Amino acid sequence: MPDHPAEPRLLVRGGPELRGQVSVSGAKNSALKLMAASLLASGVSVLHNVPDIQDVGTMKEVLEHLGAVVQFSDATLTVDTRAVRSHVAPYELVQRMRASIQIMGPLVARFGHARVAMPGGCNLGPRKIDIHLRGLTDMGAVVDSEHGFVEVSAKKLKGASVFLDYPSVGATENLLMAAVLADGVTVLENAAREPEIVDLCKFLMSMGAEIEGAGSSTIRVTGVEEMVSAEHTVLGDRIEAGTFLIAGALTGGEVEVNGIHPHVLELFLSKLRSAGVQVQEGTRSIKASGDPRTYRAVDVATLPFPGFPTDLQAQMMTLLSVADGVSLVTENVFEQRFGFVDELIRLGADIRVDGNHAVVTGGRALTGAIVRCPDLRAGAALALAGLVAEGCTELREIHHIDRGYERFEEKLRSLGADIERSVVEDGGLV
Ligand code: EPU
Repeated sequence: MPDHPAEPRLLVRGGPELRGQVSVSGAKNSALKLMAASLLASGVSVLHNVPDIQDVGTMKEVLEHLGAVVQFSDATLTVDTRAVRSHVAPYELVQRMRASIQIMGPLVARFGHARVAMPGGCNLGPRKIDIHLRGLTDMGAVVDSEHGFVEVSAKKLKGASVFLDYPSVGATENLLMAAVLADGVTVLENAAREPEIVDLCKFLMSMGAEIEGAGSSTIRVTGVEEMVSAEHTVLGDRIEAGTFLIAGALTGGEVEVNGIHPHVLELFLSKLRSAGVQVQEGTRSIKASGDPRTYRAVDVATLPFPGFPTDLQAQMMTLLSVADGVSLVTENVFEQRFGFVDELIRLGADIRVDGNHAVVTGGRALTGAIVRCPDLRAGAALALAGLVAEGCTELREIHHIDRGYERFEEKLRSLGADIERSVVEDGGLV
């Protein structure tokens, strides 16, 4: 979506140290899949701690398009699936949010049919769905694609041994949701181990599924005849937590995030410590503080969980831009996740990109400028840079941030940040 003068922008004035406590919202990347999973039963499922973000709004539209009745208020979302009749995810919705394809597994499992627009590429590069489709084929589904749609059909899916070429988060989730109603046992090998997968398995089990090994790379699902609606509380958003921890550390303040188990961010926290940030772990909270003048370079390579999360790579790059020394950042998950680097350079960072490597020469004093957000996490990283840049940073195309961060600037403001949302009519800063 191109920037439009009427689209709100974020204005960040650098300087204030961020201090205080902030509660994380429910995890976007869990809530969306739990909403899709509700399709597996006929009835009313209730999800608590659902973040009020644009992607949840889009998934709500997807479910409504299928015939579900969805209500959302005060972080509680109810999905009544009793009137679901359609099995189609249209182009307009899939193009807006790729996670719409997560309805494929549940629809084939329950209705024997799903027709989903092909997602195509996105700002993070080409994103294939071959692993999703191969797994469904292994389970006996027939997959056809034409006119830009993927059509998956199976009278009754059959349990199978499925080896994923790569521990794809989305494929693991789609296959899990397909397997719960299949005939017999499905074993997913090389499955993704992200905490959001564990959260999905918990919800599926409360709906009646039989699952062993959630959180490990081998998940065993014994198909059941029928699933029932259930109630579940979405786990905390580890990426939001990581973003606010960097905000505290970067500004030389002290920020405590609540509602998150430190073990879901272990490698990230150890990298923060190696960079010189003081990190204290509670049972369901994490505190970060430190003096940016003492921060030093660290090398970071993104990997599937429990590796360093790709969704925190951009925010970490902002921290490394001001830390002393040369850091090497390697992006192994998404091909084009350095799209924000040119924007960070406009704020004064010294970064050289070669393929999936970025060499960050730190110790730079950042200065405010106009920047555009190429994607969600990049947007957050640029806002973080604005917190320490001299003068004012104006973030454009912030709809990306709104997709995945609930009340982003409000939460930062509650910690002392000077950040506001505004509509700029004349095309920017003087
Ligand atoms: N891949 C394939 N074939 C497939 C599936 C994936 O080649 O069939 C490739 C992708 O192209 C990509 C890599 O495997 O290069 C990882 O993809 P994965 O399927 O693991 O990711 P995803 O399910 O598409 C989710 C999150 C992302 C997060 C990744 C990795 C949601 C809605 N999205 O995407 O979150 O970065 O897992 O942890 O859960 C974000 O929140 O900003 C975001 C992008």
